[in-house]
Amino acid sequence: MRQFLDDLHVPHTLDAPLAPETWYGVGGPAAVLARPSSAQQLAALAARAHEQGLPVHVLGSGANLLVADAGVPGLVVKLSDACFRRVEINGNIVTAGAGADLAKLVLQTAKTGLSGLECIAGVPASIGGAVRMNAGGRFGDIGRVVRRVKVMDSSGHVYYRDREDLAFSYRKSSIVAKFILEAELELTPDDPDALMQEVKRIFMLKSESQPLGDHSAGCAFKNPSPGPDGSPRSAGKLLDQAGLKGFRVGGAEVSPQHANFTVAHPGCTAADILAVLDHAQRVVFEKFGVKLEREVVVWP
Ligand code: EPU
Repeated sequence: MRQFLDDLHVPHTLDAPLAPETWYGVGGPAAVLARPSSAQQLAALAARAHEQGLPVHVLGSGANLLVADAGVPGLVVKLSDACFRRVEINGNIVTAGAGADLAKLVLQTAKTGLSGLECIAGVPASIGGAVRMNAGGRFGDIGRVVRRVKVMDSSGHVYYRDREDLAFSYRKSSIVAKFILEAELELTPDDPDALMQEVKRIFMLKSESQPLGDHSAGCAFKNPSPGPDGSPRSAGKLLDQAGLKGFRVGGAEVSPQHANFTVAHPGCTAADILAVLDHAQRVVFEKFGVKLEREVVVWP
């Protein structure tokens, strides 16, 4: 692994703990955690890993991620260098690097008087992660405002995907390229005070119903598709009705506040969280015949 990176001069750490990089705060190390300082370095790194068949994982803000206790055997790339975190605002078009922080951008655009992101206030994410998973909630998602995305494939080739050729659906995008480099968002001019009010309103609603102060990865399961009568179904409600609030394995617990949040208490392991999620999935299936799909991404 050392020789793998030696001649590339990409800043990196071997056996790098990933727990501090995730919101759960659990899990083992990455064999290599690289933080390239330019797109050229990233391309060289990607090409090398590709040639050698080494698995590559891209780390965003770790807000929707569970790393296994044994860690990740391959290469983990974090686009945290300033060159990947740039934000430019030109009229109503915002170009944001993959490593930029979504929560900060929500505030910045609202204060600037640009509407479109306030609906995802309170969602923790990097821009790259948010676009890849079409981050959002009850009030909207980021896919609605994406105009163009600059990506790099696993061999280092850079290209753009335009809105016409992109599809966003519930917590899903059609982007398959390994790396998202930046996203262009098309927002709508609006009154900054009204937008800030809306950001505050949505944030308050979230903090009333969700355990935002605990270690979690947000909602653990996706909401299932509508029931036979066409009415929407909520994973949180099903988990709650199944009596799972407070269910605990080791340091992992189904939040007593919102049943779709599994929270990690001190001493929690990834195995504890996986055991809670598996149990919850099984109980909901037995009681309601609904197979919940995990929203949390599990590595490796
Ligand atoms: N509910 C319960 N018990 C619970 C939790 C919820 O009965 O323990 C009920 C609520 O009372 C409500 C319904 O279930 O009637 C839906 O709950 P909520 O309004 O909290 O919304 P949600 O569908 O659980 C979704 C997103 C959240 C997002 C919120 C608000 C999913 C899986 N969840 O939650 O996203 O914050 O809307 O926009 O799509 C996330 O993706 O990580 C996430 C937290």
